[in-house]
Amino acid sequence: MSNREGRDELREHEFDGIKEYDNPLPRWWVWIFWATIVATPIYIVYYHFGPGALVADEYQQEMDAYYELQREQLLALGEVSEPVLRQLMENPAMLSAGEKIFIAKCVQCHARDGGGNIGPNLTDDYWLHGAELMDIHRTIRDGVPTKGMIAWAKQLSEVDIMAVTAYVGTLQGTTPAMPKPPQGELMVRKPLPEADAPDAGGAGGDTGDPSEAVTEEVPPAA
Ligand code: HEC
Repeated sequence: MSNREGRDELREHEFDGIKEYDNPLPRWWVWIFWATIVATPIYIVYYHFGPGALVADEYQQEMDAYYELQREQLLALGEVSEPVLRQLMENPAMLSAGEKIFIAKCVQCHARDGGGNIGPNLTDDYWLHGAELMDIHRTIRDGVPTKGMIAWAKQLSEVDIMAVTAYVGTLQGTTPAMPKPPQGELMVRKPLPEADAPDAGGAGGDTGDPSEAVTEEVPPAA
């Protein structure tokens, strides 16, 4: 215990000439120390096994909620277009939703990393039905029924198709574990003309550019 007279007492032992004061840690410090030990199992049980949401789950929930919000904005745009789809490739909520749809519906034929299996490799520069996002969107929506690619319009909403299109767009140029050999023709996705580029459209305010409507207040990626 600390010496109330204000002088620290030397303890009796000595190691290699080093002596020690009897200087206990402050009470508040010790209490915090014990509090953390008590809190840890409660935290683990609550968050890892109980109803508590981990940070990653909360992020996912926010992304899902944001996707729901954007769904309406996107539908309000009416016609889907190449600039809108390109813009969605920059949108974390859309990509996260698109990835979920891809995992649920597409991996058995295109592989988890897009490397291809029954369906073609989606990561290379060779395309059977076009490299533009509008081409990919059309292939997903209408399918290629005679070749085993389902017309997803029957199973996925319009916005889901846009989200998974944007996700497929991000796969190109990645390196899958077991890439299927190229099918189709070598095609490069064209850069957008200046006027259609997502960040064109004038300074501030509502420019009426539909591609702007969906990017406001995108939460930053975690
Ligand atoms: C039952 C298997 C199957 C499933 C499931 C499937 N696909 Fe396909 N997909 C194919 C086949 C086969 C082709 C090639 C069609 C052809 O030969 O014309 C293809 C082609 C494509 C293409 C065009 C590739 C190119 O080279 O032009 C895209 C894009 C695509 N699929 C995306 C998707 C997405 C996204 C999903 C999930 C929503 C999906 N596919 C689910 C079998 C599948």
